[in-house]
Amino acid sequence: MNLTDKNIILGVTGSIAAYKACDIASRLVKLEANVYVLMTENAKRFVSPLTFSSLTNHNVYDMWEDHEYKIEHIALAKKADLVLVAPATANIIAKIAHGIADDLLTTTILATKAPVVIAPAMNTNMLENPITEDNIKYLLSKGFNFIDSDEGRLACGDVGKGKLASVDRIIEYLQNFESLINEPPLGGLRGAKRPWGGRPNESSLDLLGKQIIVSAGSTIAPIDPVRYISNHSSGKMGYAIAEAALKRGAKVFLVAGNTFIDCSEDIHLYRVKTNEDMLRTVKDIIEKNNIYCYISAAAPCDFKAKDVCDSKIKKKDRWSLELIKDVDILKEISKMYHKPKLVGFAAETDNLEEYAKVKLHEKKLDMIVANDVSGGKVFGEDSNKATLIFEDGRKIETDRIPKTELANIILDNIN
Ligand SMILES: Cc1cc2nc3c(=O)[nH]c(=O)nc-3n(C[C@H](O)[C@H](O)[C@H](O)COP(=O)(O)O)c2cc1C
Repeated sequence: MNLTDKNIILGVTGSIAAYKACDIASRLVKLEANVYVLMTENAKRFVSPLTFSSLTNHNVYDMWEDHEYKIEHIALAKKADLVLVAPATANIIAKIAHGIADDLLTTTILATKAPVVIAPAMNTNMLENPITEDNIKYLLSKGFNFIDSDEGRLACGDVGKGKLASVDRIIEYLQNFESLINEPPLGGLRGAKRPWGGRPNESSLDLLGKQIIVSAGSTIAPIDPVRYISNHSSGKMGYAIAEAALKRGAKVFLVAGNTFIDCSEDIHLYRVKTNEDMLRTVKDIIEKNNIYCYISAAAPCDFKAKDVCDSKIKKKDRWSLELIKDVDILKEISKMYHKPKLVGFAAETDNLEEYAKVKLHEKKLDMIVANDVSGGKVFGEDSNKATLIFEDGRKIETDRIPKTELANIILDNIN
């Protein structure tokens, strides 16, 4: 977002990091944004409103005292191009998640149609408390944007996650904001910027404003410069999901392994070879964006050569290769703190459901799509018969249907 002349509401809350909001306000003003600071009463215990009004040339409004506009919270909510809450306390996050509107900041957030970006700052235990985690997840699912906090030494002396993201990172995030959210595919549709991610009337655009990663196809594990281990996955399922998500309005990142399929130009395509490449790419996309869901339809290698030869191995009558476990991409992603919703695939030849459920729990997935690959029933085919198994134990079984149709059933169930 080019910040020049943009109306930015900066919400400041009662965190020890509130003093850093002065720097944020000052940097935004230097970038020629119009900055309106709204402080919670507790924020005022940390920094004086006078500091912000001097930095921004605008009053720090109070819902009950100031009457520059007739009804401050509605006027500000309408005026805003973006609302940034930095630092955001656990308390304000909980209040926003529950629709509480008991001061000018929370009321404005509830009333605005502008995108809302939240930069949490709190003690690690507060951040990792399942209540805060659930509030953040809920807000992410409603289209609110979060700037992940940093790890480091906190004001309380603890070392861990919860430190407000650096001012540089916050400013950079705002400057890149438009590329992080979906541009509305239909002229003038404001849905992508609805902070609550409300469904537009067009049911086909139910993923508008959401960012989705899909991984597809097989990966390879090199043996020497000319040979590798891989599998039969064609990538058709992943590509079908990526195309379906794009049609439903999502911004789609497709991380493709060894595939030979074309995809729409509007899909952000990343080509990778090994599991390590795929993991690095998916992590990087998650860290730099606000990903709603990662659908891992790829078939990464389970094993890799313990030693990869630098030169081509000569023909021999007999030769053995020692294999070791390759990196488990989905398992690594499931360890990320601000991980998106996770959907995995289980391709098994026997005990399908049993293995799929183990994978679902081990990798902390929200959903797993189990398909029977005995007798080569899936690879390279255009149709598939699958069972969707959910974290809460629910199950949906499909008939043998086109992969394009299955893609939409999967997307229907990630919301
Ligand atoms: C010295 C001090 C530092 C605090 N720092 C934080 C903090 O970084 N993050 C947080 O969530 N709460 C912090 N709190 C607790 C909040 O101030 C408290 O939850 C308050 O109710 C938040 O109000 P507000 O969200 O309306 O600003 C701190 C409290 C004190 C006394």
